[in-house]
Amino acid sequence: MAKIFSGVQPTSIPTLGNYLGAMRNFVKLQDGNDCIYCIVDEHAITVPQDPSEIQKNIRNLAALYLAMGIDPKRSILFIQSEVPCHAQLGWIMQCVSYMGELERMTQFKDKSKGKAAVSAGLLTYPPLMAADILLYNTELVPVGADQKQHLELTRDLAERFNNKYGDVFTIPEPYIPPVGARIMSLAEPTKKMSKSDTNRKATIFTLDSEKDIIKKIKSATTDAEASIRYDRENKPGISNLLDIFSLCSGRTVDELVAAYESKGYGAFKTDVAEAVVSALKPIQDRYRNLIESSELDEVLDEGAEKAYAIARKTLKKAEKALGIGRSGKL
Ligand code: AMP
Ligand code: TRP
Repeated sequence: MAKIFSGVQPTSIPTLGNYLGAMRNFVKLQDGNDCIYCIVDEHAITVPQDPSEIQKNIRNLAALYLAMGIDPKRSILFIQSEVPCHAQLGWIMQCVSYMGELERMTQFKDKSKGKAAVSAGLLTYPPLMAADILLYNTELVPVGADQKQHLELTRDLAERFNNKYGDVFTIPEPYIPPVGARIMSLAEPTKKMSKSDTNRKATIFTLDSEKDIIKKIKSATTDAEASIRYDRENKPGISNLLDIFSLCSGRTVDELVAAYESKGYGAFKTDVAEAVVSALKPIQDRYRNLIESSELDEVLDEGAEKAYAIARKTLKKAEKALGIGRSGKL
């Protein structure tokens, strides 16, 4: 029985990469573990967001969490900004962080590259993420490969705090799945599939129509070799489609290679698209029933309350260890 925490930003509809790399594992980990899942809206505003758009995305993401199989009877689901302890411990973790280590984060470098002005929040995004995790005495954090560096920093910050002020935080481990941790862009398969890609054919969103999914997979970049085998280095497009096919169908990559070795790319892509459509269809059906329901608000209200009850204890412990506020006043 492990304590699990993870979060997704409400910056658009979750992508197939979010689902296969992270959210699908959130659902599986509910068996036998204590799970807390978060809609990290305070992380989302580190880059400019349209208020009505982010409001819509928060609700969509909540409905999708449930539609994918997060069970509010077993897991806590809540919105980050509704539990103020995140921003409060986030501040403390900023004071434990060094500018140099934050400036070295690859996500910060990527997101700030070429921009005339970036928010200070973009730099201090990782200490807020550390706070999210540490508030809940988290042992395991399921994420895609792109979050590995942030997890390492979280561990460093927690250890630094504990060494200086006493044992307050549990040191978390990342859980990065062996397959699917880095689903690549369909258009440029050497780049990760991203919510913000400007090429509309690069990314499948979990609410895409069957027609759009087929169109995007049919136009996926492959290679001129016309042979289906797994080789991330030399055949990134086909290898990415094999990963997607395997995760959506439950068949292993080896099985798929054996079945499609002698078939053309056209027939292969048709079947990949079919597998993706069948994997997403039940999620989309459940989503449609949930999005207008009052159940969603009840789940989020209850989630925020339960999360707060845990988070405030850790926050108070950290404040006490630091000597801020009036000690003993919980
Ligand atoms: P985000 O949309 O940045 O909040 O990401 C939510 C979760 O999805 C994180 O655990 C990411 O690591 C994961 N993720 C995002 N993009 C991908 C991708 N292309 N492949 C696998 N996992 C991903
Ligand atoms: N930074 C993560 C991402 O972009 C989202 C996130 C915020 C998160 N807080 C977290 C993930 C805590 C895991 C745990 O994907």
